Amino acid sequence: MKSQQVRLAKRPKGEPTAENFEIAEAELPAVGPGQMLVRIIWLSLDPYMRGRMDDARSYAKSVEIGEVMGAGTVGQVMESNHPGYAEGDFVLGMFGWQSHVVSDGNGVRKLDPALAPLSTWVGVMGMPGLTAYVGLLDIGEPKEGETVVVSAASGAVGSVVGQLAKIKGARAVGVAGPDEKVRYVVDELGFDACVSHRSATLRDDLKAACPNGIDVYFENVGGPTLDAALSLMNPFGRIPVCGMISMYNTGPVGGDADRLPALMRRILTDRLKIQGFIVSDRGNRHKAFMKEVGGYLREGRIKYRESVTVGLENAPKTFIGLLRGENFGKQLIQVSEDPTRG
Ligand SMILES: NC(=O)c1ccc[n+]([C@@H]2O[C@H](COP(=O)([O-])OP(=O)(O)OC[C@H]3O[C@@H](n4cnc5c(N)ncnc54)[C@H](OP(=O)(O)O)[C@@H]3O)[C@@H](O)[C@H]2O)c1
Repeated sequence: MKSQQVRLAKRPKGEPTAENFEIAEAELPAVGPGQMLVRIIWLSLDPYMRGRMDDARSYAKSVEIGEVMGAGTVGQVMESNHPGYAEGDFVLGMFGWQSHVVSDGNGVRKLDPALAPLSTWVGVMGMPGLTAYVGLLDIGEPKEGETVVVSAASGAVGSVVGQLAKIKGARAVGVAGPDEKVRYVVDELGFDACVSHRSATLRDDLKAACPNGIDVYFENVGGPTLDAALSLMNPFGRIPVCGMISMYNTGPVGGDADRLPALMRRILTDRLKIQGFIVSDRGNRHKAFMKEVGGYLREGRIKYRESVTVGLENAPKTFIGLLRGENFGKQLIQVSEDPTRG
């Protein structure tokens, strides 16, 4: 049995290109005692993967040159010598950008396809959904009547943040790029308003959308959106710092002036709370998330959208597109057939 794999070929400088990836085949070992063979169905592409391609200090280890790119995946067991798994079972695991894998079950979870569609276990019911949940509720702590602004609002994390904010009785305002995403955030997801970070009048647009100022700014992008939101924060505002996607390819960019002293003063005078967080530190909230967000999903109170690209070989160009904002909703690669989908 062979596995098709996408490996890191060389580290990118700036925006990744096709040359940073290598598509190759690897011979899989025989399935030993306590092991199982898994066919990958859904592969999650996420912005954090860009950071793993660099050789820089971060909260997680870099991918080595020649190593398979890491990723959350949903797969199906094809053969099993593992006592906890049978042929046909669906599983969630960090199996990476590849088509098949032999696993000993470490870090793997069995999935019940009756509970939620398989692809959602790496989306709204998975890592991005949990990120929205802990970032908004535990750090943002929105109260009824407050204004919550979220950037990358149509995406995997942002879409859940705004819908949860509404459920908690807050006013939800999104920031997105193209008009069709801006419209979707209001018309389909039910946010109160959404503005475009492409607008030359972004700050004024955001101010008009937030007549009572901003109490929670859920930060996903950095750059001009952060500047605009910061300038509109209310006293005692909270900023869960989830991501900085506008900098992932470029590194920090800014004007000549050192803005840190001004920012620190703002934090002091407005008594702002700004806290970074990484979802992998928040496993203790997984059960509560599953119960609460799973319930909202089944009741139709939380909606989601997926961007599906078929074929593992298309993962590199799809990932490059994700960092440019070409996805619309949770970005997935369909590596093989999902037997639960019609
Ligand atoms: N802290 C954690 O544990 C954690 C976990 C998961 C995700 N995250 C972070 O959460 C953020 C959202 O992730 P996601 O998976 O939900 O991705 P996503 O929103 O589904 O996709 C990324 C979106 O970011 C926007 N974007 C890209 N470049 C931008 C730029 N230069 N300026 C403004 N917006 C830009 C694009 O939307 P538009 O077309 O609307 O601009 C793009 O569609 C990322 O920063 C990610 O790293 C953090």
